[in-house]
Amino acid sequence: MESSSSGSCVQGTVYHWVVLLAVWLCGSQHVLSQKVTLEPKDKFLLSDPPIGLFDPIEISPSVLPHNSNPVEPLSPMYPNYTSYDPVLTGKCHVNFSALSYIIDKTASDCSIPLAPLVADVICCPQVNSLMNIFQAAYGSGNGTLVLNQASANACFSDIMSILASKGANTNIPELCTLRPSNLTDASCPVKDISSFEKIVNISKLIDACSSVDPLKECCRPVCQPAIVEAAMHISSGGANMFGSSGLPGSVAGIDIVSDCKGVVHSWLSMKLSSEEANSAFRVLSGCKVNKVCPLELDEPSPVVKACRKASSSTPSCCAALHSYIGTRQKQIFVTNLQAINCATMFGSMLQKAGVADDIYGLCDIDLKDFSLQGMR
Ligand SMILES: *[C@@H]1O[C@H](CO)[C@@H](O)[C@H](O)[C@H]1NC(C)=O
Ligand SMILES: *[C@@H]1O[C@H](CO)[C@@H](O)[C@H](O)[C@H]1NC(C)=O
Ligand SMILES: *[C@@H]1O[C@H](CO)[C@@H](O)[C@H](O)[C@H]1NC(C)=O
Ligand SMILES: *[C@@H]1O[C@H](CO)[C@@H](O)[C@H](O)[C@H]1NC(C)=O
Ligand SMILES: *[C@@H]1O[C@H](CO)[C@@H](O)[C@H](O)[C@H]1NC(C)=O
Repeated sequence: MESSSSGSCVQGTVYHWVVLLAVWLCGSQHVLSQKVTLEPKDKFLLSDPPIGLFDPIEISPSVLPHNSNPVEPLSPMYPNYTSYDPVLTGKCHVNFSALSYIIDKTASDCSIPLAPLVADVICCPQVNSLMNIFQAAYGSGNGTLVLNQASANACFSDIMSILASKGANTNIPELCTLRPSNLTDASCPVKDISSFEKIVNISKLIDACSSVDPLKECCRPVCQPAIVEAAMHISSGGANMFGSSGLPGSVAGIDIVSDCKGVVHSWLSMKLSSEEANSAFRVLSGCKVNKVCPLELDEPSPVVKACRKASSSTPSCCAALHSYIGTRQKQIFVTNLQAINCATMFGSMLQKAGVADDIYGLCDIDLKDFSLQGMR
């Protein structure tokens, strides 16, 4: 963490988005407290495919219904779009209705007015998760974990049309740097389930990733290293990792490992339910977007003093910790994903200051402690 204050560590566009998001969240919070009544004229109804972007700031927060489920890693509040029938290529042979849970969730996380605002934190992580789950759904029929280029082109187009038909932004590929090739993971030498399972210690991978604890994973990652290990392993086709081909460390090697991570994600998606896989992927990306914590986390010296090994007694440490988080938490409404980022950021500040214990665990801190209880 470069800085103890989030304001100075996020810059440029990202900072702009954070400010907009904050403004918007404050707006909706304000409105919520006044009891929202949706007038018919306020509703968003689209009869045609969405073509452009709305200016997000022009949208009255009163049309945004409150997300009442705090356990989900934030489904942003979205207006009520009427969906229309998407135009499909007819060349992507997959049962899209079996994927409706994940597609609907993605469409709402990337809804037109919100996508540019929340791209990094919400929309793109969710789209990436959809890509992995889609690869698995497509490949499981014939034992593969990836698509070939032709199917990838057709399916990518179909996925984007279906998302748009459900109110998602049509700029997702640009917003999230996504291409059909993200469905092929072409440079990874292992593409089918049986080779994958011969090479990778699959029980270890499943154990590490079947239920990912948001708070623990960000501070003491378990699933992420297991994925990287599996990806390194298959990137060399199971041979000695430092053998002749696909040298890790070379530029080509890094691309291969990155594609192989996609293959590992796809395999995990096949083994886990859509819900489990999705929540695991969302936590993993939440841990990565660690600059987007809107709380001002100033010097936690009282916590450090109370929680450093030598002087620590659990009750005084926890009291200091609760008091610190309690006051910061009142600053602004924090979404669950942002709460993950705040928890990670604060955890690393404490570690740097010499707090070695897992004090979140010790003091029963969880994610909701980083966001306002009243909003639950
Ligand atoms: C959204 O709009 C449709 C059609 O107008 C309506 O049937 C549905 O109940 C609405 N959903 C919500 C959550 O308002
Ligand atoms: C597609 O999936 C849905 C939901 O899982 C299922 O009801 C339907 O029978 C499937 N259709 C085909 C053709 O397999
Ligand atoms: C797997 O099946 C899909 C169609 O269901 C096909 O396009 C693809 O080429 C197949 N892959 C392999 C490796 O057979
Ligand atoms: C998708 O592919 C593009 C270009 O190949 C790459 O920059 C991007 O990181 C990939 N996205 C994911 C989620 O792998
Ligand atoms: C797989 O991993 C588990 C635990 O992480 C370990 O006990 C086991 O020996 C490993 N299996 C193989 C074949 O390496």
